[in-house]
Amino acid sequence: MQRVIIFFLILFVSLNAQNKIVINADLGKYKIDKNIYGHFSEHLGRCIYDGFYVGDTNKIIPNTRGIRNDIVKALRKMKVPVLRWPGGCFADTYHWKDGIGPRSERPTIVNTWWGGVTEDNSFGTHEFMDLCEQLGAEPYISGNVGSGTVREMAEWVQYTNFDGRSPMSDLRKKNGREKPWNVKYWGIGNETWGCGGHMRPEYYADIYRAFATYLPGNSNVKLFRIASGAAGDDYNWTEVLLKNIPLNLIEGIGVHHYAVIDWNAKGSATDFTEEQYFKTMQQALRMEKIVKGHINIMDKYDPQNRVALAVDEWGGWYDVEPGTNPGFLYQQNTMRDALLAGATLNIFNNYCRRVKMANLAQTVNVLQAVVLTKEEKIILTPTYHVMEMYNVHHDATMLPVDVTSEKYTVDGKSLDAISCSASKDENGKIHISLVNIDINKKHNIVIDLRGTEVSKCTGRILTSEKVQDHNTFENPEKIKPAAFNGFKLNGNKLRIELPATSVVVLELE
Ligand code: AHR
Repeated sequence: MQRVIIFFLILFVSLNAQNKIVINADLGKYKIDKNIYGHFSEHLGRCIYDGFYVGDTNKIIPNTRGIRNDIVKALRKMKVPVLRWPGGCFADTYHWKDGIGPRSERPTIVNTWWGGVTEDNSFGTHEFMDLCEQLGAEPYISGNVGSGTVREMAEWVQYTNFDGRSPMSDLRKKNGREKPWNVKYWGIGNETWGCGGHMRPEYYADIYRAFATYLPGNSNVKLFRIASGAAGDDYNWTEVLLKNIPLNLIEGIGVHHYAVIDWNAKGSATDFTEEQYFKTMQQALRMEKIVKGHINIMDKYDPQNRVALAVDEWGGWYDVEPGTNPGFLYQQNTMRDALLAGATLNIFNNYCRRVKMANLAQTVNVLQAVVLTKEEKIILTPTYHVMEMYNVHHDATMLPVDVTSEKYTVDGKSLDAISCSASKDENGKIHISLVNIDINKKHNIVIDLRGTEVSKCTGRILTSEKVQDHNTFENPEKIKPAAFNGFKLNGNKLRIELPATSVVVLELE
């Protein structure tokens, strides 16, 4: 008898275990700021030098004023709304005046954070602005607080943003740039709890207030000042900052969270077990709890929702590729990273009321890069393709989603298999992005679309047989988006068969 009951119980549970999503197309209220799709490029390893920048005397790799044309073309297609620079930890050792003027006269700098290499400062403020202009991206400058001064940062703002006569705008003109660049986004230090000075939040809050006071007077445009934010779930950091910084001095507050299994044993980027994969996804999906935790505090101190949460560093972090400089953080990029990116971007979309910027670390050749280079060759990583597929969400109105997901279970631990976000663009098209992190099983999903009528659906998919699959310089297009037809639209019900290990973006009209 007991056996019969258990049998029917299991049957009942499995019949009812279903992936269901409700999307309310008429309840969209908040914009998905395109800056959620931002990137981060530090003077680290081969991100800037031998990455973006090959120098204007390079005759082998086609470039425009030293910046690689192939990378710019790929990133323009993917769309980079905002680019954070020059660090990271490097930012708090960087003195911007060393990177302007004739290149032959610029002093060198030893990159003490990353590999101890000597840099010639040939990529400085003008080159970064040129890169942003070529990409069509907004610059986000992370200023030096740790080893810098209020005066140094205020002068940098005057150099980039002051229109009219002043010592720094005159210097800018002497260096060949007449008009200001009008840089809006300024980070006031980076990880000031760590490599940016090992400060206590109380101390940093006061330092922040001083810097934030003297920057705006040097600018033509209204600045968006971003405070150096917490490490992951250090909610006390955010609480102390917001308790002590008047709201008229702050436009954004950062937070950094990397999906790392174990800082002492990060594991290979390509050769990993299902258990390691699962742990990476556990860490990646913690992002929702972290973002929620900081938002709760922000809602307490800023009920008007004025201050933005900027997740200005995020991504997967593994061991470097064998044989490469450990200080250069060069790692390959697999379908694991595509799933990580898709699920994380869904979180940012869904919390776009407060999350108004995020910057994936780091664009080229470092950590979860979207482009990898080898001499004159480049490859676009699975993460690149997710970013490109998701760009339909840029500045669209977020549609609230209610997801009921079956579980993906490994060693008795479970995560939701399905993640989802949706938006409506200015032409009325609805886009739904779906991720199936389950690498063993396809999932059938029923989407109930409320508050709209649709008659046409198209889709794109990124998938591969194994989660370890990746693009290589020998096989650069193993993973790339394809058309997706695994759905049936019947009135307002959309039935989807979402393959294992896949990211899908649907377009409905
Ligand atoms: O992205 C690499 C490093 O990670 C950055 O320099 C630092 O801000 C963070 O700890």
